[in-house]
Amino acid sequence: MTTNPTFDVTRTLPVDATDAALRADVLHGLTRTPKTLPPKWFYDARGSELFDEITTLPEYYPTRAEREILLARSPAIAAATGALTLVELGSGSSDKTRHLLDALPGLAAYVPVDVSESALRGAARSLLAERPGLGIHALVADFTRDLALPATPGPRLVAFLGGTIGNLLPEERAEFLASVRGLLSPGDFFLLGTDLVKDEAELVAAYDDAAGVTAAFNKNVLAVMNRELGADFDPGAFTHVARWDDRAEWIEMRLRSARKQVVKIPAVDLVVEFAAGEEVRTEVSAKFRRGGVAGELRSAGMELTHWWTDDAGRFALSLSTVGG
Ligand code: AVJ
Repeated sequence: MTTNPTFDVTRTLPVDATDAALRADVLHGLTRTPKTLPPKWFYDARGSELFDEITTLPEYYPTRAEREILLARSPAIAAATGALTLVELGSGSSDKTRHLLDALPGLAAYVPVDVSESALRGAARSLLAERPGLGIHALVADFTRDLALPATPGPRLVAFLGGTIGNLLPEERAEFLASVRGLLSPGDFFLLGTDLVKDEAELVAAYDDAAGVTAAFNKNVLAVMNRELGADFDPGAFTHVARWDDRAEWIEMRLRSARKQVVKIPAVDLVVEFAAGEEVRTEVSAKFRRGGVAGELRSAGMELTHWWTDDAGRFALSLSTVGG
């Protein structure tokens, strides 16, 4: 933990937590049928680079759509909330947050929360230069778990952007939203980014781009297991699959085994067999409708008060209060 007048970092995530969690997820996910891996393991340095590249692809609209909304609506968000503290869950580079920060000149504290300490330090460094008066209290934490916020002035605006909530399964979403509700006091706000249900072809293209960047991003989880667990996955023996599930209303990314093969994962003492054509689900990315978002928020004790979309209606930001 380091401290100076305007920047401090608090770690609630044990340094070896990532290691233990990866082992547990691989052991659990690759010994069940169908096989699954959670999407958070895409994001090592290379995976984060590939994701940044995805956000610039012509097919991948969510990042641009959300930025369009933030650019247009940050003044309205600032006016509606009068926030003195901005908490951002999964802040990453804090890139899109700039619009919000610019619209909140009276902001006293910014609390970025991320599992990556290097991302937090990098983001804080450039922000501090621009906003010397802003207190930045970075939290190295897993926001789906033990979140405890520093004592900063209210009202608080808790933001969860990017549509990342779509990576959680419905039960995980309910649990996550309940924990967000637990962070809020009356008078505080929750700002949520959700990708919206739309034409199947447009959705599938966003997750199966022509340049193959999403395929490389998907396969990166194999490289992560090779490096971290001593596994011997051959990325060339798997193909990228993106599928729209009409009933669940989510995109599924999978890795399909091109042939029958056996993979060793020494760090978890596992030998995994893949049938030819067998698929591992590596991500769900749920898409939403206004009614569903409002309903899930209500079930968690929050009330949706504002709903903003981009002009093309592809993505939404919603603002909620503590329910009455
Ligand atoms: C960062 C989780 C919002 O689900 O669209 C991009 C990740 N996966 N392309 C998403 C992702 C494939 C992205 N989120």
